[in-house]
Amino acid sequence: MPQKRKATNRKDGGDISVNNGAGMTILGIETSCDETSASVLRDGGRILSNIVLSQDEIHAPYGGVVPELASRQHILSIGYVVGEALTRAAVSLDKIDAFAVTQGPGLVGSLLVGLSFAKGLAYCFGKPLIPVDHCQAHVQSAFIENPDISFPSLALLVSGGHTTLFFLKEKHSFRILGRTRDDAAGEALDKIAKFLGLGYPGGPVIDRMAEGGNTKRFPFAVPKMSDRSLDFSFSGLKTAGLRQIKENRIGKDHAGLPDFLASFQIAVVRALLANLARAVKDFQPRSMILCGGVARNKALRKEFQKFAMRHRLPAFIPSLEFCTDNAVMVASLALEKIASGEKMGLAMDLNAYPRVPF
Ligand code: KG4
Ligand code: ZN
Repeated sequence: MPQKRKATNRKDGGDISVNNGAGMTILGIETSCDETSASVLRDGGRILSNIVLSQDEIHAPYGGVVPELASRQHILSIGYVVGEALTRAAVSLDKIDAFAVTQGPGLVGSLLVGLSFAKGLAYCFGKPLIPVDHCQAHVQSAFIENPDISFPSLALLVSGGHTTLFFLKEKHSFRILGRTRDDAAGEALDKIAKFLGLGYPGGPVIDRMAEGGNTKRFPFAVPKMSDRSLDFSFSGLKTAGLRQIKENRIGKDHAGLPDFLASFQIAVVRALLANLARAVKDFQPRSMILCGGVARNKALRKEFQKFAMRHRLPAFIPSLEFCTDNAVMVASLALEKIASGEKMGLAMDLNAYPRVPF
């Protein structure tokens, strides 16, 4: 049971009244996976700073994120990253009106670092602590530059940990239509790159090396769910990729490597868009959103835009810096929660959650 501390001079866990977000200054913190990030936003969304410290170099030798190393690096970096975000924003801690932090899903050890740090700040300054869901924050990243996206909307989140299709009837209403039953799309790209010894994270390497490659040279079947659900599956595609690599003896220096990577990459893109096509038919959205780290991928961005044009729908894809994990999307969503009148408190009993709870 979480213990509630008896406070003498602070409201502890109780409601704190804040205005509707206008004129507020908020500090967001994101530590769900392997990026330590902090950001200061003001006046309903003006970005004063956004610091992202990547741990890629630490995890690269292992070809994937090592959870314990991630937590240990977050605990080393968090003070510096938050300090830098405040310095660049030219805002001191006592001028922060609310703190926002990623609560989950993600690596629990990593999440706890951000949560504990944010709790400490909220407690010390007696300001509200606003928990934010990581997947919802990724969707929010599309609204940072386009606040007027029309609803209902379909949002496709494609990252290293998630491949999820959401239906948003209106703002902040998230219905999951489908999600991956095994590997996430980014994970499949990372694993193929790891197998080929191309480095970590593999997604950006494949993106770069596949440029100009022949997408038709290595055919892959687009995975389909036998039960007609809108869930995704990438482990079969990954296994087919590994088989092609072995059968054709593809390696780092193979002349056909760009063709193989382009073929594999387009198969991932097609698998994503195949589900989207069915969802567009069934749910008749008025807009489409693409977000998450893999949304940086050039082929996916291009095909998503083409797909949207074919369906005569406006497509919204965040700028590259807002696709991968960042604290702007966390602070931005928190500001909207405040504006929508959600109750805010010191929230000292918040805990991290590893998987999507909704
Ligand atoms: O959203 P994100 O930073 O973290 C998670 O929430 O998982 O996404 C990281 C993922 C990694 O799998 C990485 O390989 C992929 O995004 N990624 C890319 C590109 N940039 C990052 N995948 C394909 N093409 C890219 N340009
Ligand atoms: Zn993420």
